[in-house]
Amino acid sequence: MIERTLAIVKPDGVDRGLVGTVIARFEAAGLRVVALKMVRLDAPAAGGFYDVHRARPFFPSLVSFMTSGAIVPMVLEGEDAIARVRGLMGATDPAKADAGTIRRDFASSIERNVVHGSDSAATADFEIACFFSALEIRTR
Ligand code: RTP
Ligand code: MG
Repeated sequence: MIERTLAIVKPDGVDRGLVGTVIARFEAAGLRVVALKMVRLDAPAAGGFYDVHRARPFFPSLVSFMTSGAIVPMVLEGEDAIARVRGLMGATDPAKADAGTIRRDFASSIERNVVHGSDSAATADFEIACFFSALEIRTR
């Protein structure tokens, strides 16, 4: 099924000049970038985006990290885009990520792991709407 998903190059990826590398991996896998921007989140916005993790011990640190610099959210479209982006990213902890994944190749820790990707269709709908209005998503 053709799906849309939200991916983000996190502040560590932007700082380290990995925006192009990350996008190239998605495009090389046949996913199309249909929306893209650079933003910097404040704490309420980052907390709202990761609201599902609010009770987790790592939440304050995650919000601090995600507000530490610019991020590059994008909408990717393609066959099974949600699962395929997750596969290209690799496991949350880079030590557990498969060879050839973005996180295995570039992440520096379980927190500073370069990329975000939506984990379900419902999550993708919510997360895309956090960053892009309908008219900002282009198909041609
Ligand atoms: P994401 O939502 O960013 O795509 O990452 P994910 O699904 O692989 O992992 P998730 O469990 O949703 O965690 C969200 C982000 O929180 C940070 N984290 N830190 N210190 C820790 O134990 C820990 N666990 C998670 C990571 O930045 C993770 O990607
Ligand atoms: Mg997640």
